[in-house]
Amino acid sequence: MGGRRTTGDPIIDIKRANGLPGFLGTLRRTFFDIFHAMTTTTIDGSSRPQDWRERIATTPAWGGVLLCHPAHFDVLDVKNSFMKGQIGSVDKERALHQWHQLTETYRSLGVEVHVLDPIADLEDMVFCANPVCILPRADGGADVIPSHMNHPSRQREVEHVLGWFDGWGCDVTHLPEGAGRIEGHGDVLVVPGRRLALGGHGGRTELRALDALAAACDITLIPLALQGDVFYHLDTCLAVLDENTVLIHPPAFHEHALGTLSELFPRILIAEPTEASDHLAVNAHALADGTVVMGAQSPRTAARLREAGFHPATVDVSEFHKSGGSVFCMRLDVPALTR
Ligand code: ARG
Repeated sequence: MGGRRTTGDPIIDIKRANGLPGFLGTLRRTFFDIFHAMTTTTIDGSSRPQDWRERIATTPAWGGVLLCHPAHFDVLDVKNSFMKGQIGSVDKERALHQWHQLTETYRSLGVEVHVLDPIADLEDMVFCANPVCILPRADGGADVIPSHMNHPSRQREVEHVLGWFDGWGCDVTHLPEGAGRIEGHGDVLVVPGRRLALGGHGGRTELRALDALAAACDITLIPLALQGDVFYHLDTCLAVLDENTVLIHPPAFHEHALGTLSELFPRILIAEPTEASDHLAVNAHALADGTVVMGAQSPRTAARLREAGFHPATVDVSEFHKSGGSVFCMRLDVPALTR
């Protein structure tokens, strides 16, 4: 796809917007973040910095998406602010219909859909992007890393998702005991085509757990500090659209994290703020051809993506917004390893 840049693009120049003193502070902290990532990310246990600007030699082939059937989906407690006032409000039939629409959307885009069987009592399991993260390796393979979930009610999801990837033929890399809390692709977002991933912390995932992940995997991980308690996962306020472009909701980030993003990405698109905060507009899934699968309640954000040369494919997943999730966290990209 093109990534056409027009003068009307909602692209921010964070450095200019911050003014000079802010800019200097941002630069200093940006340097700290990138330096931190480059010196703690190792392939072989040494502190050898990697060049995250290098393109990766082999991108693991993509084997479609994994989605978990929503048979047991519900809102039973309040784990994030989107869930406030929603206990018992899920329309189960509607949720099932919306989930089928999501699977149909992927199929109509030519994406293979794999289905993970749901488990009774695991009402959040439909958000299958959280219990593991899958990181590309330089050899073309992928590491599957189990999460250390915060909430006891979500901890048992991990073994089920891992079981699926084990069956698929993936190798599992465990983080050390006591590595800290980390919630998979809720907070760890891979940048396609680069040896680079972004790691949100300050919400559900701890910075020390990102360090442990960086030490265990073959990828440079840049930490990004989140602020406030609404945007609790990085995927609620940032979507990686392609190698050079992210979609963000700026108020969710510490100033220095915005500085880091402006160093890393030539193009930063801004989601329409109320769509980001009321309808999880940013929790969108970009495909390699420029299609962006996203919730249907965010037409203004979709229009911004379209203006920037992307192709939004919208689907109504509003029942799942009641639990604080949308398209991105309802699926996992499956590496095409062994069949
Ligand atoms: N109710 C779930 C939780 O609070 C929603 C998770 C959605 N995941 C996400 N990455 N946004 O854990």
